[in-house]
Amino acid sequence: MADYTIKVRRFQPESGEGPYWEKFDVDLEPSLSVLDALLQTKDREDGSLAVRCSCRAAICGSCGLKINGQSGLGCKTQIGEAQELADKKASAGGGTDGPAPIVIEPMGNMPVIKDLVTDMESTHWAKIRRVTPWLLPHGEPPEREYVVEPESMIDITQSMACIQCGACVSSCLSMEADPDFIGPAALAKAYRFVGDPRDAETVERLHDLAEDPHGIYDCTHCFSCIDACPKGVAPMDQIMRLRRKAGEEGIEDPNSGHDHEVAFVKIIEKKGTLDESLLLQESFAPGLKGKLKPSKRAIKEMLGSIPTAIRGIRTGKMRSLPKLIPGVHHKLPGDAQDEVKAIYKHAEEHKEEFNLYIKGEEGDEEAAIEERLEPPRTHTPASEETSNG
Ligand code: SF4
Ligand code: SF4
Ligand code: FES
Repeated sequence: MADYTIKVRRFQPESGEGPYWEKFDVDLEPSLSVLDALLQTKDREDGSLAVRCSCRAAICGSCGLKINGQSGLGCKTQIGEAQELADKKASAGGGTDGPAPIVIEPMGNMPVIKDLVTDMESTHWAKIRRVTPWLLPHGEPPEREYVVEPESMIDITQSMACIQCGACVSSCLSMEADPDFIGPAALAKAYRFVGDPRDAETVERLHDLAEDPHGIYDCTHCFSCIDACPKGVAPMDQIMRLRRKAGEEGIEDPNSGHDHEVAFVKIIEKKGTLDESLLLQESFAPGLKGKLKPSKRAIKEMLGSIPTAIRGIRTGKMRSLPKLIPGVHHKLPGDAQDEVKAIYKHAEEHKEEFNLYIKGEEGDEEAAIEERLEPPRTHTPASEETSNG
């Protein structure tokens, strides 16, 4: 047994007071869970502590929480690991005397009903219903069940693993900025039906999700939902699959999201890294530099984006003004650009899922290039280098 201190964000609406923090000491094996710590507290210290749970085995999806700022399941997070993370965060922030408390909060992006219990109706369930989460087959139903090839269902098994815990919604940065965003859980659920060979309204679904300004192009690829999901659903990857299918259908979206992605991919193919100076014009007026024929809409969109670009410079997202000047983007060293093109060719020839969502920090780019240039080299298919999806 070991002693741990948990610091719980409390909210008791009947008291008329606002939220507050309360610390409790618990005595548990490190392999037991954060949920066990809360249940022990409820049992021994304060029966009024509200927490939602049922299966205690990462199956029912009831115990979504934020633990040390990270969304996940209370019953799937070992208290020993939570302590390690709390200590790591504390030492990064200057350290504390002794072990840091494990911080436990209700899920984010949702109204809190009481203590750690959130109202998932408006932020989760209403959005799940929004994507029509049932099959829409056409024609007379078969006498018995629909029969499909097992292989045709492989593509959607990942999205079918969802237990509706809401951890991805809790962690979604886009939802923080736009509460109307359909969100990672509902969009992963949407892919479950878009990818189902029995569904006959795939194209209608794609139009709906792409043309909604809070739909699939509202995701900013922050990876938070992938990190938060306890079941490996990788909601962001399902959103990218929806986008790919919407693009294949030639569906135009109100935010030029599809054109933006195409521009991104095209620029990387051409230059190896992102030339920010070309991104805006390519997104709204596709064409090569110098051969632009911007539409009225493109000009309007580009003018409307100027404040965003200025904000990007001010906040440091665009770190230097030269990045915005066409023609000054640095070239990749050696034959690195040919290697990038080879990756594109390989992905195209093998019809591999290809995306550019690679995790990394600013500054890693040069190190990665040098590493790739060092002999002996082995060619790794793009799909193995990028995130799954
Ligand atoms: S990747 Fe997209 S859906 Fe997932 S948390 Fe980030 S913004 Fe939300
Ligand atoms: S996608 Fe993952 S995190 Fe989101 S609700 Fe489903 S199981 Fe939970
Ligand atoms: S209690 Fe069921 S998932 Fe945690």
